[in-house]
Order: sequence, then structure tokens, then C-alpha cells
Amino acid sequence: MIRREIRVPGDKSLSHRALIFSALAEGTSRVRGILRSHDVESTAEVLRRLGVAIPPLGDQISIDGVGLRGLAPPTRDLDCGNSGTTTRLMAGIVAAHPFTSRLIGDASLSRRPMRRVAQPLTAMGATVRCDSGDGLPLTIVGGNLRGVEWRSDVASAQVKSAILLAGLVAGVVVSVNEPERSRDHTERMLTGLGIRVDVAGTRVTLRESHALPPLDLGVPGDPSSAAFFVALGAAGSDREIVLPGVCLNPTRIGFLEAVRRMGASVQVEQTGVETGEAVGTIVVRPSQLHGITVDAADVPAMIDEIPLLACLGARAEGVTVIRGAGELRVKESDRIAAVAANLTALGVRVEETRDGMTVAGTSAPLRGRVHAFADHRIAMAFGVLGALPGNRIEIDDPACVEISYPAFWADLERAIA
Ligand code: S3P
Repeated sequence: MIRREIRVPGDKSLSHRALIFSALAEGTSRVRGILRSHDVESTAEVLRRLGVAIPPLGDQISIDGVGLRGLAPPTRDLDCGNSGTTTRLMAGIVAAHPFTSRLIGDASLSRRPMRRVAQPLTAMGATVRCDSGDGLPLTIVGGNLRGVEWRSDVASAQVKSAILLAGLVAGVVVSVNEPERSRDHTERMLTGLGIRVDVAGTRVTLRESHALPPLDLGVPGDPSSAAFFVALGAAGSDREIVLPGVCLNPTRIGFLEAVRRMGASVQVEQTGVETGEAVGTIVVRPSQLHGITVDAADVPAMIDEIPLLACLGARAEGVTVIRGAGELRVKESDRIAAVAANLTALGVRVEETRDGMTVAGTSAPLRGRVHAFADHRIAMAFGVLGALPGNRIEIDDPACVEISYPAFWADLERAIA
């Protein structure tokens, strides 16, 4: 069997957090293997506008932190580009600083729900104005925050992190309870830096905060980027795909479990630990796949991989049912509508529901042109589907992968060559 090894770029969630924590630390942090992509550039640029000297992003960077309450008042709007993580995490941080900030973003980001962070930050004592009702721009007048016990309606690491970071900077106790456990990178990094964070089920409490020490951190590969090649290997015909150095955080690898349930041969071997995160190699071989059901409890650990799972469902035997994934409607695009429209255009039978979809697998060749809806994960999911034997799919906006994985098309070429 042909063997292809792909080293996926650094994890996006960890890259945002590496920049943010380095900026808030006292002293010089070192970060290796940061993801260089548009979203991470957005976080770097926002921090620069707040007075942090973030160098050009490279494989090894050093960042001089300004300390927990050392950000400078911005003289310009904070442009978060396409990045929800930048917006929501930075909203928490600026809310705890005694100045006014205005967060803006591109057309897609401006439509995304921001009340979910505005409400808890308001409860903590910040003034948050959301001119459009529930999106960007967001004007935040920060200051002396008080602690909060927040119950979130959505399982969202971005909301949870906004509250934890606001509490961290303000030096107050905060706790967040969410309906399902979302990714826990913020909690792990804080714990690694000596901040006390207690986790009890779906409730996270930040107990006390003091100065952050500098970080020395290597960013492992992004499991959400690796997922595209896991899907390619599982639904392919003649090759084994090997993915070394991938972050194996349990709150991120629900997709591996889901493709295993579909019948895929997926082996995972942990090779180390990097900054509190398990890291390892994933090996995938082709198998006959069958449809599965994904429920609300499965969703947070594979939230960004669900469009890809739906595409894989189109190549599986039987029906794939996705439920409890209403959050997909408020991502970079309405990912339920986007996937349903594209699969339908390719001749796949899809039924769209309020919070998911049903996809009927087919072995017919899938050919045609699809829309990325300016959404990197939609472009890459259909890129993988188009790369499977017998299929030919053209994507209207392949360049949008720059958001999270600029080398995606080159890596896909190598994987199928
Ligand atoms: C992210 C959290 C998730 C995810 C996004 C990155 C993060 O969003 O979809 O790509 O880094 O915290 P939500 O927490 O809003 O679900």
C-alpha cells in the first residue's frame, strides 16, 4: 500500500492562546511552531494595536509580555478579520482594562452572535454596546470587573474563555457552566502557568490570579486540519496516511471516534506531551464506511469537523444523521445550509433540519461546482470529497483556506499524488 506522511500546521486554538498569554505574561515568552494563517494574524494585529510588540509570525518567535493589566488604550479599531476566537477572547481581555475599545470584523464575523459574550461581561461590570443588536461592531468600556457565576446556553470555548480571561485580568473569581464540555485549552494553559482552575463536570472555576510567568511552548499540529487527511485516508482506496505531531486533546478528537464508528481503521499513538496537551501520530487506512448518528453530546469535540463528516457520509453506506449541531449555523458560514446546498448540487440526497442534517450515502461519482461561502472548512471538506476516487469537484473560492491552513491544497496534492 502507498504511504503518505503529512505534517499538518500548528493548532489554531493553541496559536491564538499562545499569543494572548505571551502578551499578558511578565517577561519574554518563546513560541515554536505557531500557525501562520489569517486568523492568527488577526490576533497578532489586535495585540499590536493594544501596544504589544508581536514580531512577524515565524517558526520561532519571542514575545515581550506587558503583564496582566498592561495593555495600552487602542488608538484604532481592533480588526478581528474573520476570527471569532480573536473577537471573543479579546473582548474578555479588553473588558478588564480601563479604556474603550471597538472590535470590528469582516462581513461574516460581523453577522456572528456576540451577545453571548456581551452578556457575561456586562454582568461582570463592563459596558458593552452592540450596535447591530447581536454582532459586530462591539464597543467595550472596560474597568473594574467583579466576579461572576455564569451559566452559558451554548457549549462554547470562546464564551468560556472570554469569561475566564476577563476574570484573570481583573483578578476576580469567575465560574462558567456550559451544557456540554467545550475544548479546554484555556484551562490547561492557565493551569500550566500556575493559575488555579477547578474543573467539576461542565463547570470551570478560575480561583485566583496573579502575574503570569512567561511561556516556553511548542504548538502541536491541529487535529481539525489533520481531520481532512483522516477522512481522505478512510474513504480512499490505495494508501495509508500518516499524520505525526498532532494534538490529541480529548476535547478535540471526537472526529476520530466518529470515523471509527463509521468503520474506519484509525490508529493513534501518543508520542509525547507538549504544554499540557497529548501529542501523537495518527495512521489511517482505507475501509468500507457506513453511516452513523451524531448527537448533541458528540458535537463539541468535533464541532469544526461536522461539515467534513457530512461529506464522508455522502461516501458511506447507508444514512448519516447529525443532530444537536445548531451551532453550525453561526460559524464562518451557516455550515448546515452550506453543506446541504453543496451536497445537493452534487446529486447527494440530503435533508436539512434545524440543528443538523441527514445525508444518504452514494457510490455514484460526485461531480460539479460548489461554493465555499468564503468558509475555509467548507472549502477543505469539499476539497477532500473531490479528491476521492471517481469524484471531480470544483470549488469557487479555494483561497479561503488561508484562514486556517494556507498550505492545504499543496498538502492535498501530495497526499493523493
Ligand atoms: C474555538 C472554539 C470553537 C471552534 C473555533 C475555535 C476556540 O468555537 O469552533 O474554531 O479556539 O476556542 P466555539 O467555542 O464558539 O464553539
